[in-house]
Amino acid sequence: MKDASPQPVYLADYTPPPFLVDAVHLTFRLHPEKTRVLSRIEFRPTPGVPASRLFLHGENLHLIDAKIDGTAITPEITDEGLTTDAPDAPFTFEAEVEIDPAANTALEGLYLSNGMFCTQCEAEGFRKITYYPDRPDVMGVFTVRIEGDQPVMLSNGNPVARGDGWAEWHDPWPKPAYLFALVAGDLVAQSDRFTTRSGREVDLNIWVRPGDEDKCAFGMAALRKSMTWDEEVYGREYDLDIFNIVAVDDFNMGAMENKGLNIFNSSCVLSTSETATDDNFERIEAIIAHEYFHNWTGNRITCRDWFQLCLKEGLTVFRDAEFTADMRSAPVKRISDVIALRARQFREDAGPLAHPVRPESFIEINNFYTATVYEKGAELIGMLKRLVGDEGYARAVDLYFTRHDGQACTIEDWLAAFEDATGRDLAQFKRWYSEAGTPRLRVTESFNNSTYTLHFEQETPPTPGQPEKHPRVIPIAVGLLGPNGDEVVPTRVLEMTGTRQSFSFDGLAARPVPSILRDFSAPVIVERETTNAERAFLLAHDTDPFNKWEAGRALARETLLAMIRDGAAPDPAYLDAVHTMLRDDTLDPAFRALALGLPGEDELAQTLFGLGETPDPQAIWEAREALDITRADAMQGTLDALYAAHQVTAPYRPDPDQAGARALANAVLGLITRRDGGARALAQYDAADNMTLQLAALGCLLRAGKGADVSDAFYRQWRHDRLVLDKWFGLQILSADPAEAAETAARLTEHPDFTLRNPNRFRAVLGALAAVPAGFHHASGRGYRLMADMLIALDPLNPQTAARMCAAFETWRRYDPARQEMIRTQIDRILAAPGASRDTIEMLGRIRD
Ligand code: PHE
Ligand code: ZN
Repeated sequence: MKDASPQPVYLADYTPPPFLVDAVHLTFRLHPEKTRVLSRIEFRPTPGVPASRLFLHGENLHLIDAKIDGTAITPEITDEGLTTDAPDAPFTFEAEVEIDPAANTALEGLYLSNGMFCTQCEAEGFRKITYYPDRPDVMGVFTVRIEGDQPVMLSNGNPVARGDGWAEWHDPWPKPAYLFALVAGDLVAQSDRFTTRSGREVDLNIWVRPGDEDKCAFGMAALRKSMTWDEEVYGREYDLDIFNIVAVDDFNMGAMENKGLNIFNSSCVLSTSETATDDNFERIEAIIAHEYFHNWTGNRITCRDWFQLCLKEGLTVFRDAEFTADMRSAPVKRISDVIALRARQFREDAGPLAHPVRPESFIEINNFYTATVYEKGAELIGMLKRLVGDEGYARAVDLYFTRHDGQACTIEDWLAAFEDATGRDLAQFKRWYSEAGTPRLRVTESFNNSTYTLHFEQETPPTPGQPEKHPRVIPIAVGLLGPNGDEVVPTRVLEMTGTRQSFSFDGLAARPVPSILRDFSAPVIVERETTNAERAFLLAHDTDPFNKWEAGRALARETLLAMIRDGAAPDPAYLDAVHTMLRDDTLDPAFRALALGLPGEDELAQTLFGLGETPDPQAIWEAREALDITRADAMQGTLDALYAAHQVTAPYRPDPDQAGARALANAVLGLITRRDGGARALAQYDAADNMTLQLAALGCLLRAGKGADVSDAFYRQWRHDRLVLDKWFGLQILSADPAEAAETAARLTEHPDFTLRNPNRFRAVLGALAAVPAGFHHASGRGYRLMADMLIALDPLNPQTAARMCAAFETWRRYDPARQEMIRTQIDRILAAPGASRDTIEMLGRIRD
């Protein structure tokens, strides 16, 4: 067990490393329980930094011997690393350590997944492989020799040589240890070739377990598209002779951008039309792009320290979103991203885990791979781009690449490139990086003598450790519509910098209807008093697709809030507006599917809490159910017609057009099932030749209480496929009656195919439970107890995945005293469990405070 009272690290305490690494030679003698790692590291004192002793990180390592310049040394060893005297001149450090990959259930460092050796080093996993200055500002050139009897043995960079039982790799690009990777096992590749625009021939491989070869084609196509896009849009080329992707079943995260050797959670790369849904395909394309784009934003230019994580993640998420917008529908991508941002990041920002996009302290960095760092981090890049314009952005990014190639950088470096390239002062903008919390933007308006004025007031609520907030610069994209629905003022970006600020528009014949925060131009919550009639008007007429959707969303939300609060009947204005929208065949089916979606239960709970009310999860669930039944009745004919009109007859392709048609048909099927009891869902299930249709039909049947036999058949059909089985586990909980969700989840944790060793499987069950508020927060407390039981079981094995799941409890303050008491009891029970990890202790400590 680790130290019970771990100390935080502070950004303010950063000091440069006393020693730099020029070159590293590693030899791995692979063995499941006794792998030997031999290292030879060329160090040199950092110029300008006072001489000091040499400290190397190292955890769970058995040191066999160590030498400096060929002479044996006896370093001091603690749980955290090794300390020794070192010359004040260049020297060579050598060590041999033994590690036990088979015992590594945390999936950090070198571990085994289905008999395959595999590493995960970000953020601080390399120290579990050998002694090293495991910090991102130490960048070295790695040469790696792997010895073992695995048929395929991979590491970063280019292959140098191989023979019977060994392989050597050399990565010419200096990199921090977190980008190191090694994979060895019985793997087969799907291969392709890509010629970069300067003529470099690159071998592309996707490595998988034998049997999965047929699941790589889409991923390979996505990789090629990503490589082309980064050349065309950012002018960035690939820089090695080979690019390897490996699919691994046991992985804590989605994927990892190790230099030249990306390692993917198999769920984020493998696909066939029979096993993956349209959403899976889109996600795979985005994640392949994301990891590939890291080659420049993350690898060639990396982070000075882990507080700068958003430097690579926010920017790379922004880049992958631009890529998806270019490959598919930009409005649909934007709307989906905002739905996810509100569900995950606004929730985080409004609760006890709120932290700035660039945090100022942490105990366990693994707990900061958050929606705030990633998704809000990406929103900040989007705002910057809007503020400096497309050309300014292109110039600034080019400057950043040329100025900092090969360096480990900070947010200050990033912003300085923008200031230098555009002449703009970004001092106020920087607050977005340092202050947590979602600003509220209150809007009022006035109209007289043909002048229309918008008055804005911004306020950010206090967050943990930050009682006071300062006004931020907020780009507010606004357009105005005339009474007949025509746009009278096209989109203009208002730059708000003060606490209160007004902007006027002259020469208007009549009072316009404003379309505010178009394209969601800033991650804020807009508060403006308006009517459902005006929302319906915007849903019908707004030229900005995001705000068109937003208007429908607001209508649905207001309707639901009234239903939740006083059991009101659904507002006919909403029903009419959504009905009209659905029948508008000029609208993209994917857009219509999104506009038919209702605000989620958790989003509604968050809204109610934000208004000072105590949400009742059961009442929220019932209101959504009631609204769906009403919608199914009110639009019966339209729904039948839409369902028929959006059947795809062409052979399956995971492209946006087909996916949009299926998304609309499936959304409509959900409503149709409310009336027909599952007849059409069963027919769809029986006829389905792809997972998108099969899974949606199964969900409808389960929700209608008619899914038992079909679910058994689904299991029998797919029990050999881990990724499909994850869907099966999750869907049963997501589709259960809330009164039974916790029992269903509990039963599934007893299923022979359930295991704590596989993070995907754990998340399929417990993540699904956390995603059904009326089930998780059921008044019986069963959901809380099960979550705690499973976290206590998982935490000693896999702290990272356990700690991340603790966020299920982050909303506890929203609820009534009885629920709060039950949650606190469970949190305390987890904290008291023997073997509670520092990851989980930090998370629950922050949540409980
Ligand atoms: N850096 C990875 C990404 O976002 C995420 C990751 C973090 C993966 C830590 C593994 C461990 O692309
Ligand atoms: Zn990333």
